[in-house]
Amino acid sequence: MSPALRLLAPALGLLGLAVLLAAAPGGPAQEPGGAWFEADAGRGRDLFRGRGRCLECHRMDGEGSPVRGPAFDAHWRSGPPLQERLRERRPVVLAGIPEGVPGDAWILESLLHPAVAAAPGWEGQPMPGARSALLALGEQELADLLAFLNPAPGGEAGRRWIPELPPLEPDPWAAFATLGGDPGEGERLFFRPDDAACSGCHLLRLPALEERYPAVFWAQGTLAGPELTRLALVQTPEEILASILRPEARQTPGFETWLVETHGERLFTGMLLARSAEGMLLMEAEPSGAVFTWLDAEDIAEAIPQVPGRMTHVFPELLSVEDRRHVLAFLRASALASEAWGEEALPGGPLGARDPVAPLYDGAWPPEARPDLLQRIPGIPVSHEGGPVSAGAPDHDHR
Ligand code: HEC
Ligand code: HEC
Repeated sequence: MSPALRLLAPALGLLGLAVLLAAAPGGPAQEPGGAWFEADAGRGRDLFRGRGRCLECHRMDGEGSPVRGPAFDAHWRSGPPLQERLRERRPVVLAGIPEGVPGDAWILESLLHPAVAAAPGWEGQPMPGARSALLALGEQELADLLAFLNPAPGGEAGRRWIPELPPLEPDPWAAFATLGGDPGEGERLFFRPDDAACSGCHLLRLPALEERYPAVFWAQGTLAGPELTRLALVQTPEEILASILRPEARQTPGFETWLVETHGERLFTGMLLARSAEGMLLMEAEPSGAVFTWLDAEDIAEAIPQVPGRMTHVFPELLSVEDRRHVLAFLRASALASEAWGEEALPGGPLGARDPVAPLYDGAWPPEARPDLLQRIPGIPVSHEGGPVSAGAPDHDHR
């Protein structure tokens, strides 16, 4: 060592120690306003599928809901996988944070400030914040989620910078519980056989309910409206009540009803499942099952979204204030009970398995989004515009 360096060594040593501490694996190292965390993609995946409840609203690797929030794998509705979409995103609140992997800042902003960072086309859709009592994510969990959703180039999980987190928000369901709704009464209202019967359009999967209600409910549920099994784990009582009382205020994106007129002056209505430059895919829930209609773009004269959608307008009159409390208490109690059951143990199998169009978007966006793909859905009648409704037998040779 040169004499000059020898003189400097103690100072360098200190500096070196500081640098080492900052880079120390395992333990977080402080930086102003945040810290670096060693992240693990495997833990992130478990969190995404389990305790984090992300699957209730997001699709990933073919699992989870394709209707409540943007899909993170390739999907007709959301486009290419999240990682590709991330390249175009610029964070607002978290602009300029020390970002480990490009895209991290946007994901963090989506999680911490969902309303500010709403994904294009999903503005106004509720996503609970990371610090809401519904998700209650800590720093390490955020780092692990980043490693899972946004793997570093080269595959290693690496270190992720997490800003200092605000305190946890109070639990909105704890306040609701003090109002004293009766889950049993709520169940009766949910399944009563008249116009207000939520069960006519919504599936709620729970072994105890499967014993009490007829099999036809399990076969047909969820075609007409979104599954509600665990909704009360990821939305506040206010958000759920708003969907019931003011359906026009917010539509679950996967269930938008459209009216389409063709140049041949034929009218079609149905839920919009997919739309690309090539055309539109509509689905109509019939008692016999789902009927899909593909309309080529050049045949479409006019396409008009229907506001409000299917959710009946009459609920404010049909459900007294007390009834609303009972229904919410029932949804909350069922959601908690269902979380105790693994996905696989629920009637109907894992979430997303009941998605009737799953075979359509096996990673296909958008060049393969063609009507001939409809032929690959087993057991579903397919109507081509102007043509007869075919039996829809699976045609495995047709690719
Ligand atoms: C109640 C439904 C719901 C839950 C639960 C939920 N999200 Fe979301 N998420 C949404 C919606 C709706 C959007 C689109 C609006 C927005 O960006 O705020 C979204 C957006 C996002 C985005 C931005 C996506 C993009 O394309 O830009 C990320 C990242 C994200 N969520 C991650 C997560 C993770 C991770 C979890 C679990 C810890 C989670 N979300 C739980 C509904 C949800
Ligand atoms: C005629 C069919 C129909 C009936 C009956 C019905 N719903 Fe719905 N519901 C829908 C549709 C379609 C949507 C999605 C479109 C929208 O958000 O308006 C929906 C959305 C919802 C949502 C929002 C779900 C989400 O994923 O954000 C809730 C909560 C809900 N309904 C609760 C109820 C309850 C409780 C009842 C019974 C009192 C009920 N619904 C009766 C069709 C129905």
